[in-house]
Amino acid sequence: MAFSVRALASQNIRCSVRQFSSTSQNNAKVAVLGASGGIGQPMSLLIKQSPLVSHLSLYDIANTPGVAADLSHIETKAKVTGHQGPDQLQECLEGCSVVIIPAGVPRKPGMTRDDLFNTNASIVKTLAEGCAKYCPKAMIGIISNPVNSTVPITTEVFKAAGVYDPRRIFGVSTLDIVRANTFIAEAKGLDVGATNCPVIGGHSGITIIPLVSQCTPKVSFSDEDLQKMTERIQNAGTEVVNAKAGAGSATLSMAYAGARFTFSLLEAMNGKQGVIECAFVKSELTEATYFASPLLLGPNGIERNLGLGTLSNFETKILNECIEELKKNIAKGEEFAANN
Ligand code: 2OP
Repeated sequence: MAFSVRALASQNIRCSVRQFSSTSQNNAKVAVLGASGGIGQPMSLLIKQSPLVSHLSLYDIANTPGVAADLSHIETKAKVTGHQGPDQLQECLEGCSVVIIPAGVPRKPGMTRDDLFNTNASIVKTLAEGCAKYCPKAMIGIISNPVNSTVPITTEVFKAAGVYDPRRIFGVSTLDIVRANTFIAEAKGLDVGATNCPVIGGHSGITIIPLVSQCTPKVSFSDEDLQKMTERIQNAGTEVVNAKAGAGSATLSMAYAGARFTFSLLEAMNGKQGVIECAFVKSELTEATYFASPLLLGPNGIERNLGLGTLSNFETKILNECIEELKKNIAKGEEFAANN
């Protein structure tokens, strides 16, 4: 039986976690870098529920011992260790097969994800250098914004270290799919657990391209409602930033999305067939050298990029409109990596 955040959500959590804990043969060490933060803490809590994880390794520059002690009391299989500050990054990362990075600062009202670049670019670069050195074969999931730029930075770091494998570096755009599923299911009165809308492109504003025409089950909207639905999905992060009124950006839904992506990776690494997630990766599908699209995952990361499928005229138009922005975001990350 598949284990996923979605499956977990629809079951009795305690029973299902215990059941899976006792039967699973899987033993991954998973690191969360930025584990004390607003995304890192709830995401670590969710990852601690997974029977596929034997060691949850938490890193941050502050408060990691407390978060680790707290999580370590939970009656699930994963051992939890806390690592604080650069001197402890090596022991956090050695032996990891998956590393998820939400480290960095969040948006405040009025800011775009790109406004976070100056702070988060160097945080991601430093952490990626640690990954390239201490766990070069791990799957790396980047949550730190701006994802459209931090993923290219990570790639350049891995290239410079001579350990680059494009199948293993992902920008986690799962929250865009989660939001699309939720909003479409709400609008159409569908079972959200059975709704799946791919979202391609990038992870900011107009670069977020929901493929409503490829939604399962099939849905239809008037032109006006489709425009509104698309804009709501594109601006959903800002909706949360504004609602939090200065207290940050999406943390809980992003934690859910990050955990969902982690579980999909782990399941695929353990040989489960047919695991598909959209993510922002190195790509040849468009003129932009990175692009989010549905990916078939396997033991070595991306097994096959499933491409864009057939787009509607509206989707083709908004895709064409976002390419220049995406190229700019990517170039900014690559230039940063080259100059620092
Ligand atoms: C969001 O989409 C934080 O980028 C994140 O809300």
